[in-house]
Amino acid sequence: MNHPETPTGSQKPAPLNMSEAAEAVRTQFAADHARVAANPSPKAVEELRLAFLGRKGRVQDLIEGLRNVAKEQRPEAGKIVNSVRQDVDGAVTALQERAKAWILNERLNIPQVDVSLPVDDSTPAGALHPVSLMRRVLIREFRRLGFTIYDGPEIDFDFYNFSALNIPESHPARDMQDTFYVAPATGGAFDGQKMLLRTQTSNIQIHAMLAEKPPLRVIAPGRVFRCDSDITHTPMFHQIEGFVVDKGVTFANLKATIDTFLKAIYGRELKTRFRPSFFPFVEPGAEFDVQCTICSGAGCRVCKNTGWLEVGGCGMIHPKVFEAVGYDSEEYSGFAFGFGIDRMAMLKYALPDLRQLFEGDHDFLGQFPVHA
Ligand code: PHE
Repeated sequence: MNHPETPTGSQKPAPLNMSEAAEAVRTQFAADHARVAANPSPKAVEELRLAFLGRKGRVQDLIEGLRNVAKEQRPEAGKIVNSVRQDVDGAVTALQERAKAWILNERLNIPQVDVSLPVDDSTPAGALHPVSLMRRVLIREFRRLGFTIYDGPEIDFDFYNFSALNIPESHPARDMQDTFYVAPATGGAFDGQKMLLRTQTSNIQIHAMLAEKPPLRVIAPGRVFRCDSDITHTPMFHQIEGFVVDKGVTFANLKATIDTFLKAIYGRELKTRFRPSFFPFVEPGAEFDVQCTICSGAGCRVCKNTGWLEVGGCGMIHPKVFEAVGYDSEEYSGFAFGFGIDRMAMLKYALPDLRQLFEGDHDFLGQFPVHA
């Protein structure tokens, strides 16, 4: 607020005599004071103070002018100057007080919110996708069991998705998984190597084991891709891989882990069953079913009239896998499992068709809780 009229040291009037000079300062101060008093911002008040009371201010000029006054007139002149100084000082102090209130007012002048107005709900609130909800719940429960979260690539080398998992080239298990291949790698150490969209989160077993030393307790949620589509299959779906490697890990630990987290997730005792099954990277291997929540086991189209829904595979990590990552299978054992997150969401929210999850229908998606 640098007002052109703001008096500065360079605009001193030549003193005529002391009382006239003092009067001139009073007049000038009265004018400047009136202007600042109308809007006493801290800056304006400080400028006024410096102009009159500062080291080069006009009151100081008067005091210095006393030196030129004849000795006998000095006491009288001194009184006049002193009274000007006191008046100016008092007025400036009063303005400084008002400047404090001015700051407060500035703050209070922020536009007020009328809390009694009706809510404008024309902007719809977002909700979490059921798959995201399910993933969050899973992560929360596994964290409680002491698992660490790991991530891995969706486009990966054949090595991580297959070979290192004891699925060699031309193994029929490769056909089971309806793989989407992408162009082979070019250049560098990986030149010509087959690449694919991972068909399972099991690739993260290899990435994690190559990067870490046991003991390991890992979960890894992620997207996987298979060329497959019906009411319980979509070409992209979500899995959560879990694995534990340590000394003395047994199949009983695997069953206990699965039972514990299923109970935590579904909040009730769900009937579950393990069926012996084959995955090249586990031995023994099992598939894991949960009683169908849509028909409570009576049989329906979702469970293909079996009363059971297959949720995932599991088993004890195969020594060949340990060999591929350089772990000693005499010293360590481990279990692994891979579940479909979408299947689990389907069971939790009793969804009749898995494909609903990926159609982006707002009416459908808006029905789920906002928080996991
Ligand atoms: N990766 C397997 C699948 O996608 C599931 C699995 C994971 C089985 C870990 C055993 C151990 O079918």
